[in-house]
Amino acid sequence: MDSISRPELFDFHGVMMTKYFTDNWNNYQNFQARPDDILIATYPKAGTTWVSYILDLLYFGQTSTDRNTSIPIYERVPFLEIAVPGLEKGKDLADNLSTSPRLIKTHLPVQFVPKSFWEQNCRIVYVARNAKDNMVSFYHFDRMNKLQPESGEWSSFFQRFLEGKMVFGSWYDHVNGWWKKRQTHSKLHYMFFEDLVENTGGEIAKLSSFLGKSASAEEIETLSSSVQFDNMKKDKMANYSTLPVMDAKISPFMRKGKVGDWKNHFTVAQNEVFDEDYKKKMTDPTLQFRTEI
Ligand code: A3P
Repeated sequence: MDSISRPELFDFHGVMMTKYFTDNWNNYQNFQARPDDILIATYPKAGTTWVSYILDLLYFGQTSTDRNTSIPIYERVPFLEIAVPGLEKGKDLADNLSTSPRLIKTHLPVQFVPKSFWEQNCRIVYVARNAKDNMVSFYHFDRMNKLQPESGEWSSFFQRFLEGKMVFGSWYDHVNGWWKKRQTHSKLHYMFFEDLVENTGGEIAKLSSFLGKSASAEEIETLSSSVQFDNMKKDKMANYSTLPVMDAKISPFMRKGKVGDWKNHFTVAQNEVFDEDYKKKMTDPTLQFRTEI
């Protein structure tokens, strides 16, 4: 693990990536999905872990208590494209999952998703988060995670985000690309971090119905309290404290879990630049985000 160095960003088929997510490209492009696999897709820092945990508890929370206390979320829900020396590759972890369904996480932009997921017509849950909070969360993540390029100062990070020079590319392209995919892939549930904060139970109910499960009101209530921020923050199996590449002393993985924290980071001038640029890039009126609730 000591040999892990911060990676360079480079252009990979038109998307900024790092070696940790391209080194295993040929292998993970050939991933063999099963019809009941569930793919959880997000731009980094949009609420991936939260939704992974919800799905994991929805499927396996009742049946296997060992799972909840001894297997970290990144092993229960493997990160398909990750390949880091010294850690098992995400694709291999996914191949070896013995659960049914298998829950698999990806940050890939839609055009990079292995074709087998489409051929097998898998259910996909896409989580999106407003760009301002997503950017702030990403900044703190890059500070604390050695697998990421250096964050640099906030002002330069801000600029890079607008230019799409982030790992997994432009936020704007990512959320739009996945949004359009709904037109051709009906088994895609597109949800928003802000809705999940505002009404966790309601969003879990929608997830449950999308997944063809019939969770009772009581189950949903119990589940929504288990996945509240404070519970997940102190849960070693959810808070990534077991992963040595992350340094929670710099910034914890479960940082704030709020909508609107961008207001503590954006200057007035940055906010104006951001809003002007946003209007130019986000031209589809059907895709709307909330930056406060
Ligand atoms: P912040 O950095 O704004 O706190 P991902 O899992 O995609 O990396 O996203 C991480 C973000 O989701 C972090 O945002 C984290 O705190 C937030 N998050 C994780 N679990 C949460 C929960 N149960 N409730 C609210 N936010 C949560």
